Amino acid sequence: MMIERSVYKSVGRNEDATGIARRVAQISVSAIKQMPVLASRVEGCLSLGQGIPSFATPPFILEAVIEALRTDEAIGKYSLQPGMPRLKEAIADRLRNAKGIQADPESELFVSCGAMEAIAATLSTVVERGDEVLLPSPNYSSHIEQILFAEGVPVFVPLIEEEGWKLDIDGFKNKLTSRTKAIVLCNPMNPTGAVFSKEELLALAEIAVSRGLFIIADEAYDFLIYDDLPYFSLASIPELRDRLIACFSFSKMYCMTGWRIGYMVASARVIDQVLKVHDAFAICAPTISQYAAHAALKATNGLDGEGDRFIKTLIKELSARREFACARLDMLSHLFHYEKPRGAYYVFPRIVPEGVGDMDLALRLLYEARVITIPGSGFGPTGEGHVRISFGAAREDLNRAFDRIEDWAGIYK
Ligand SMILES: Cc1ncc(COP(=O)(O)O)c(C=O)c1O
Repeated sequence: MMIERSVYKSVGRNEDATGIARRVAQISVSAIKQMPVLASRVEGCLSLGQGIPSFATPPFILEAVIEALRTDEAIGKYSLQPGMPRLKEAIADRLRNAKGIQADPESELFVSCGAMEAIAATLSTVVERGDEVLLPSPNYSSHIEQILFAEGVPVFVPLIEEEGWKLDIDGFKNKLTSRTKAIVLCNPMNPTGAVFSKEELLALAEIAVSRGLFIIADEAYDFLIYDDLPYFSLASIPELRDRLIACFSFSKMYCMTGWRIGYMVASARVIDQVLKVHDAFAICAPTISQYAAHAALKATNGLDGEGDRFIKTLIKELSARREFACARLDMLSHLFHYEKPRGAYYVFPRIVPEGVGDMDLALRLLYEARVITIPGSGFGPTGEGHVRISFGAAREDLNRAFDRIEDWAGIYK
């Protein structure tokens, strides 16, 4: 069945970009955020769309904030622009103890409005108009818009799907030009669920060092790796400090997506520059969220703190949801072929029936099966012909959503 082209238009309002700067007129709100807007007009949808885990922010964080709201009037005021000193110290401790990353809290990190703002500010800081930024394809869609907003040129390097969405190191080398300025890399990866190996990351770092490029690392899912796979962060290599800009988040680890809080680690020289952009756009990260982040870290000692127990339970539950989602996808093999994710909470299956586009499929799943998925082409050219499925939803909702897809997908049998 063909979907009316006019359906596409309803994804976003028709834009009038008269008088709007090109750098903004050319970008768009990502499909990840547009699909839920569309779905809000469809009664009773279930979401396998946006990456929001079903869990609430844990009580040990909420209680600390409630107490501070009652007793500490500083919570309602701007913090120091780079972040509250005690939070920055707690972040530096955690980086050192949990990941072997050394960062001077005074000069080599700052607290941002989520990893998102840190990455956007970084790209705006280092990319000049026309500079090329290499990134894997598929890739988290917001990075593409952030590069365009900085007036850079995204240059896509396809991942190797059949090898579990592996990095194609030669592919990166082949795309280097005199205009290449940076590499953006999300690990563990959204939307594929890939976790890159130490060897892959070091090979990429070698390219960056030899060509004087920045690596902008998005590590929003650094804690969320399955099957006890080793996790390696390039930020743990001191020799890369001049080249590496690593962005982290409290959103996923402590189920704090709405608090908008994260941080960035880089050389003091780069931090100084990025802070100018952070000041121009945000002044400081929300102070109330900095209190929350501080409470989160205080409860996390790498052993048996409330924070540690919360994170362990979260990983265990998401791991079970991953198994469940994969088992349900196995039953849909006439519709989807997938690589099992090794991190984050996404799976990025290829659409099996010939000639079925990802936008068509996502819209039909939305309107006919009432299940939200994200069309893959929003994640770069290699995303075409795929959809992103998040398994962050509660198990009951996951179950019902897959039931609906299975009932609907009978037409392809
Ligand atoms: C890869 C990736 N980076 C960054 C973010 C946003 O992180 P934050 O909430 O810290 O801005 C997301 C959210 O889904 C993400 O998937």
